[in-house]
Amino acid sequence: MVETPKRSAVVTGCTGQDGSLLVDQLTAKGIKVYGVIRRSSRGLDLGCSADQEGNPLLEVVEADLLDSSSLLSLVKKARPDYFYNCAAQSHVQTSFEQPSYTFQVNALGVINCLEAIRQSGIFTRFLTCSTSEMYGGISDEPANEETPFHPRSPYGVAKLAGFWAVVQYRESYKMFASNSICFNHEQPGRRGPNFVTRKITLAIAAIKAGQQDKLFLGNLSARRDWGLAEDYTEGMIRIMEAAHPDDYVLATGETHSVREFCEIAFEYAGLGDYKKYVEVDPLFFRPAEVHVLIGDYSKIKRELGWEPRTKFVELVHRMVDADLSK
Ligand code: GDD
Repeated sequence: MVETPKRSAVVTGCTGQDGSLLVDQLTAKGIKVYGVIRRSSRGLDLGCSADQEGNPLLEVVEADLLDSSSLLSLVKKARPDYFYNCAAQSHVQTSFEQPSYTFQVNALGVINCLEAIRQSGIFTRFLTCSTSEMYGGISDEPANEETPFHPRSPYGVAKLAGFWAVVQYRESYKMFASNSICFNHEQPGRRGPNFVTRKITLAIAAIKAGQQDKLFLGNLSARRDWGLAEDYTEGMIRIMEAAHPDDYVLATGETHSVREFCEIAFEYAGLGDYKKYVEVDPLFFRPAEVHVLIGDYSKIKRELGWEPRTKFVELVHRMVDADLSK
């Protein structure tokens, strides 16, 4: 007989990279997950995680971040212990083309989730996936929870509004509401194809298969603090299970350029010098670039014992392996 789960969680964005990892990790802990999807005329597509099919602890439910009544109904029905908000318009470049939509989903969407919990009167711990894009890369010093914000994209501006909404609800209504300030995090085989890391590793696989001979990229000098996504979703779970709500940076404390990612990935795949394949196309330049991001994760290490387990070179190798093995 299957035991009735004692705890439950809502996960918005459950078909995305982080949401799908959380579904896997939470259900592995025996937590029932209500995975939120938006209605699609093409029917249900759980996307990236093969593990989710037939998962008895996953119930897929329809709701929309921009429809507050659907979120209130969901919270009343699920009465969740935890509410992870991973849904977002998550592509920075797209946010320059769709600034209004990005603001609605990434800022108003967070408020709608918080209001649904508040109005329901049900005690639910809330976490939203916040981002290092809020810092804007104006300093090459590692950023921590005290570092001033200076967002440089509609995405960053919207996420900053969502960040402060969480703080405001925590302070005004004493809600358990936290932000995970995530630096770039990637999951081998699961990262969206338009993010630079996956774009590179998918291109390497296509080049090796003889299907493509060039890769067009934007700013190769941009530097990011890249970690493994499943380490970060584990960090989010720790933030949710902490004694008190708070805001925490999740990062590796290292920064590397897009160029370095290419160098390591092409060499490791046996293709040699990336310069034979990579060309710069200004199409992929952004109106304002975040030149460097590096995070200081000492607060979450000190208070919750979290540390990233995966270093940059291992991450690159695992992403290449995942796409070559397909
Ligand atoms: N996407 C993309 N495509 N980026 C490129 C390309 C390209 O062809 N060429 C160079 N880049 C550079 C971008 O200009 C940026 O500086 C860097 O590569 C990383 O771009 P992305 O992988 O698109 O990620 P991001 O840093 O903009 O945003 C990601 O990380 C944030 C956390 O800092 C996303 O996951 C966000 O949702 C997340 O909040």
